[in-house]
Amino acid sequence: MSDTLRTEQVSIAHAEILSALHGRCFEEPWSPESMASLFATPGMLGVIATDDASDEPVGFVLMRVIDGEAEILTIGVLPEARGRGIGTILLGIMLEEAISTVFLDVAADNEAALNLYQSRDFEVVGRRSAYYKRADGTRVDSLTMKRVLG
Ligand SMILES: CC(C)(COP(=O)(O)OP(=O)(O)OC[C@H]1O[C@@H](n2cnc3c(N)ncnc32)[C@H](O)[C@@H]1OP(=O)(O)O)[C@@H](O)C(=O)NCCC(=O)NCCS
Repeated sequence: MSDTLRTEQVSIAHAEILSALHGRCFEEPWSPESMASLFATPGMLGVIATDDASDEPVGFVLMRVIDGEAEILTIGVLPEARGRGIGTILLGIMLEEAISTVFLDVAADNEAALNLYQSRDFEVVGRRSAYYKRADGTRVDSLTMKRVLG
């Protein structure tokens, strides 16, 4: 897949497409307005991955960097494009942009994301009990993960 993938940095102009991608990757979509408001804050970086063969966007990642400390705000790959290394590529692009430390939060039962982050040397540094609420009303802990860059 990476042979036919192109990546581009995005901006507030991509709020609609980011919202659409987010909505296909998560139970609770972020609206175009909330995407746009994120880009109104300092230090935002975003990348969309597009499949060259279909010319369709297949994944995205958003990160905020403040004083060298970065937070991955969200990352997603469309269900039909998962397991082909796109998440790894998107996370890698963000790690190249970050300077010292990268944080993120992930649901404790999100095995695919946990494996992705652990494969890129993130470590669990905190847990928030019952932080996320699922569409079915159940709650799940949030794990805070951290990677210190060399
Ligand atoms: C998490 C997500 C971004 C991974 O994207 P992806 O393109 O499928 O990931 P990759 O193909 O690059 O896989 C990277 C690693 O993640 C892990 N992984 C990916 N899919 C997995 C699955 N279904 N089960 C277990 N581990 C999985 C593996 O360790 C994999 O490495 P490997 O291929 O060497 O085994 C994708 O599953 C997704 O969009 N999920 C829904 C949104 C989400 O949960 N985002 C994260 C919020 S914190």
